[in-house]
Amino acid sequence: MHTAAGVEACLPIRSDMDLVWVRQHVRQAAARLGFGLVEQTKLVTAASELARNTLVHGGGGRMEATQVSGGGVRGLRLAFTDEGPGIADLDQALTDGYTSGGGLGMGLSGARRLVHDFDIDSAPGAGTTVRVTCWVSRPPRPREEA
Ligand SMILES: Nc1ncnc2c1ncn2[C@@H]1O[C@H](COP(=O)(O)OP(=O)(O)O)[C@@H](O)[C@H]1O
Ligand SMILES: [Mg+2]
Repeated sequence: MHTAAGVEACLPIRSDMDLVWVRQHVRQAAARLGFGLVEQTKLVTAASELARNTLVHGGGGRMEATQVSGGGVRGLRLAFTDEGPGIADLDQALTDGYTSGGGLGMGLSGARRLVHDFDIDSAPGAGTTVRVTCWVSRPPRPREEA
């Protein structure tokens, strides 16, 4: 069972400059929560790719950052939402190297590998939300909960 402390921040993703603010915000929030430098960089890298997708493929949107806790550890959850065209084939979109145009096709699949929890909500015409969570030391395991 995870508890969310409420949305801490909501950042617009409308321009390249907004991508800079997203990276800066995620870096600072992760550092504040006690993430090590390597974990901070993983989350910032994932956030950077997902925010770029929100901008480029989704036509712009927002990122919501929430501090969460579960099983005695703290984490940072990021949700990237747009009202763009959506993703018709999620398996294809998550395949290494697949791009619908011009990219390297490593953003979505790479981001998934960099975080502990990863989840996409998308349908054609209904927009896209990608949620990722990183835990400070390790993901909580139910069997270890006291
Ligand atoms: N927010 C989004 N809205 C619509 N399509 C998306 C979104 N994010 C990813 N996609 C689709 O998934 C594909 C793979 O994404 P990604 O791995 O980041 O590669 P790319 O280099 O093309 O951005 C994209 O080419 C695009 O078709
Ligand atoms: Mg991408």
